[in-house]
Amino acid sequence: MSEKDNQKVYFGDKKVSKDIKKDGVEEIFTKVSDNYDLMNDMMSVGMHRLWKRSFIDTANIQKNHVCLDLAAGTGDIAKLIAQKVSKKSIYLCDQNKEMIEKAKERSLNEGFFNKCHFEVSSAEKLPFKDEQFDHVFISFGFRNFSDKSQSLLEIKRVLKKAGVLHILEFSKVENKTFSKIYDFYSYNFIPLMGQAISGDKKSYDYLVKSIRTHENQEDMLKLFNKAGFKDNNYENMFNGIVSLHRGRKCP
Ligand SMILES: C[S@@+](CC[C@H](N)C(=O)[O-])C[C@H]1O[C@@H](n2cnc3c(N)ncnc32)[C@H](O)[C@@H]1O
Repeated sequence: MSEKDNQKVYFGDKKVSKDIKKDGVEEIFTKVSDNYDLMNDMMSVGMHRLWKRSFIDTANIQKNHVCLDLAAGTGDIAKLIAQKVSKKSIYLCDQNKEMIEKAKERSLNEGFFNKCHFEVSSAEKLPFKDEQFDHVFISFGFRNFSDKSQSLLEIKRVLKKAGVLHILEFSKVENKTFSKIYDFYSYNFIPLMGQAISGDKKSYDYLVKSIRTHENQEDMLKLFNKAGFKDNNYENMFNGIVSLHRGRKCP
C-alpha cells in the first residue's frame, strides 16, 4: 500500500483509513436501506424532493443522452432522469447491493425499469468504459466516498469529452444564526428520529457528523479543479444547507 493509500479520511467526525470508512459506510447503508426513503422525507420535511427535481431540471439533459446515477441509492435521481431520456440509457451504480435491489424493485413498480441498467460497484473503480456518459449525477452520495479524489478521476474517465459532472450534497450554511438553528435541529432531532423510525440512532448520528466534516463549497471547487474539470461552479440551495456543484470534462 502506498503512503497515499494510507491517508486517513473522515468517517463521521473520526479520521480512519479509507478501507475502514468504506466498510463503515457499507454497514450504515445496509442498515438504513429499509427506511431510507421515509427518513429522507421526515428529516428534510420533503425538501429533498424539490432539491432533486431542481438538480435534474437544470442539467440540460437531452433525449439521447447517456446518464450515470452514481451512489444511486433507491433510484430517486434515475426516476427523474427517466422523464428526460428516450432510450435505455440510465446507469444506476451503488456499492451497496441492498440499495440497488431497492432501486430495481422501485423502477419496476414505478415504470422506469425499461430505461435502466444496474451495477453494484464503488465510485472509486467504476465498471464502465472510457467516455461512455454525457452526464454523471451524484446526489447525497459524494461525502460518503472513501476516496473522493480517486472517484473524481474515475468519473472524468467515464465522461465523454464535454460531459458534465453534477454533485448535489449537503454543504455549509452561510448565515450564522440559521447555522445555529440548523445545528441544533440536526444534532438533537435527526438521531432521535432515526431511533424512533428505524431503531437506529447511530447511523443517523453518522449522517449528521458526516455533513459537518465534508468539504465546504469552496473546497469542493478545489477538488473539481485538482481533478482537471473545467468551468467549475456551484450554487447554494436553502442558504447552503445543500449545494449543487457542476464541472465539465475538458473537450
Ligand atoms: C445518502 S444515499 C443517496 C442515495 C440517492 N442518490 C439519493 O439522493 O437519495 C448515499 C448512497 O451512496 C452510496 N455510496 C456510498 N459510498 C459509495 C461509493 N464509494 N461508491 C458508490 N456508492 C457509494 C451508499 O451505498 C448509498 O446508497
